[in-house]
Amino acid sequence: MSNYHIKNLEEYYQVYRKSVRDPESFWAEIAEEHFVWRKPWDKVLEWNFSTPEVKWFEGAQLNITENCIDRHLATKGDKTAIIFEPNDPSEKAQHISYKELHEKVCAFANVLKDQGVKKGDRVCIYLPMIPELATSILACARIGAIHTVVFAGFSATALSTRINDCECNMVITSDGSFRGTKTIDLKGIVDEALESTPTIKSVLVVKRTKADINMKSVRDHWLQPLLDKADKDCPIEIMDAEDPLFILYTSGSTGKPKGMMHTTAGYMVYTAYTFKNVFQYKNGDVYWCTADIGWVTGHSYIVYGPLANGATTILFEGVPNHPDFGRFWDIIEKHKVNQFYTAPTAIRALAKEKLDYVENHDLSSLKVLGTVGEPINEEAWHWYNDNVGKKMSPIVDTWWQTETGGIMISPIPYTTPTIPTYATLPLPGVQPALMDEHGKEIKGNQVDGRLCIKFPWPGMARTIWGDHKRYKETYFSTYENKYFTGDGALRDTVGYYRITGRVDDVIIVSGHNLGTAPIEDAINEHPAVAESAIVGFPHDVKGNALYGYVILKETGESRLHENLRKEINQIITEHIGPIAKLDKIQFTVGLPKTRSGKIMRRILRKIAHKETDNLGDISTLLNPEVVQEIIDNAL
Ligand code: WT7
Repeated sequence: MSNYHIKNLEEYYQVYRKSVRDPESFWAEIAEEHFVWRKPWDKVLEWNFSTPEVKWFEGAQLNITENCIDRHLATKGDKTAIIFEPNDPSEKAQHISYKELHEKVCAFANVLKDQGVKKGDRVCIYLPMIPELATSILACARIGAIHTVVFAGFSATALSTRINDCECNMVITSDGSFRGTKTIDLKGIVDEALESTPTIKSVLVVKRTKADINMKSVRDHWLQPLLDKADKDCPIEIMDAEDPLFILYTSGSTGKPKGMMHTTAGYMVYTAYTFKNVFQYKNGDVYWCTADIGWVTGHSYIVYGPLANGATTILFEGVPNHPDFGRFWDIIEKHKVNQFYTAPTAIRALAKEKLDYVENHDLSSLKVLGTVGEPINEEAWHWYNDNVGKKMSPIVDTWWQTETGGIMISPIPYTTPTIPTYATLPLPGVQPALMDEHGKEIKGNQVDGRLCIKFPWPGMARTIWGDHKRYKETYFSTYENKYFTGDGALRDTVGYYRITGRVDDVIIVSGHNLGTAPIEDAINEHPAVAESAIVGFPHDVKGNALYGYVILKETGESRLHENLRKEINQIITEHIGPIAKLDKIQFTVGLPKTRSGKIMRRILRKIAHKETDNLGDISTLLNPEVVQEIIDNAL
């Protein structure tokens, strides 16, 4: 039996029990057997959830790119590491072998060094889904620079906020990006963002769309000529196990985005281990995750996890509906994809289209189907299972978070019997707990509560960049000695978990984590707006959509409301990005508030859900009369 690769349910239970009984030797065995270390660790784990401080493999030295690239060269040098599938299906796909990946990453790393980037510096990457996104990440990791990828759908304001928060000195971007039939001026967005980022010294620009863009002298450089001149070999920087690997921003329920900081050794071991088991990847398989590398799913399961296992991973530039709604199925057929990992929102969107799109393609290569990002509803699960998997490919409903670094609760395909909407069992090393409102753990099965994790796992984020106090308050203060996920969950009679959704003010729209506060802050910038409150409501494709209640400074004429709605969404697009736009905007004279002045979102949520029969006791509100007026005008 190997701890690393679980092949049946009995093994799962054995391995799981061992991981709880003796977590240190469990992870040490995996780390020792499956990775290259420049120096072994002195101590496997040191932890304290009240400070909080967690260290894995302390004293060890390594470089993650040596593990993801160099060590495969002897046996898999010619194997394809990355298949790049362009937005335009008539443009040829690129197959980048491990040997080529090594050269590309080394050359890129040398360019970074020439530009003055040093170990510990922060480099912001704002790129579309092109090979340079993966190679720039790996180039940073090779020289010990900390990458912070910003999803290329974020606005200039969102980009500059992130650059300033972690004080990056370089941005890597492209002239533009292709998304379906659209071309987006990424460099223009970067130029705007950089008007307010004093720390940025240089910008590297990948040529992709060949758009005519502005290059600011001294600051901006085209990447390709620098790569052409660079040496194709670059020694690794030897990193300590707990040296930061990357920062990735995620929304919180309040305030500015949180820069989740992940470190080197634990993250590597955890993403590699979970990738192997959750996708049951075997040599020769072709694996495809449709996420954008701008999100943690792409970091862990397009780049690091697959490459650490010497896998072939697809990087897709485009969108599911271009040139038509058959694009995903076309790519699966074309590259004979074995493991396919996507989001419920994509499944729901594709399930609305003609079944012909699916049926016209040969999907017989598929062995495992995955979903991530939000709870998958039963209907979407069945559609996916029946039409894509033909009831032959197990679905892994994987629950995890930016903060957890890797998958935490998920079936192991061909091992764990699946039930629609259940993420099922914790992976080895993961110790979930359900908590009640009084802070007590709820034991036993057939119960529901707030989902916590009570023991550290190697992939967990170690802090919020520059704000350890917030890290402690957000994740380790709600329940003593436990990591609080912000999600609710139930545990059934056999111990399976079903994630029921967020219990805080984070709303998951199309699988994107959106905090209400930053959106409200953006809306309140509109000169006509006095106050606003955002809640989620069910949407058949996006899962949730956003409903805004807005109080105007002057009631105004209702004929102007349509324009105001457009302007409000425009402001949100500028501050955050189009993903945070509101589907419904209701203008109101007041918002229900408690006597201490807190907005009662619970009531607003019920109205947006059209569940107004049982609003509970509203008599204690400061202004109960506004509730009826809001109901009467609800959209
Ligand atoms: C939140 C984390 C993890 C990568 C993508 C999202 C929700 C995630 C599931 C799932 C139900 C899920 C949770 C979680 N979520 N996966 N399989 N079932 N809910 O990362 O942006 O950090 O969001 O996504 O609410 O807390 P993220």
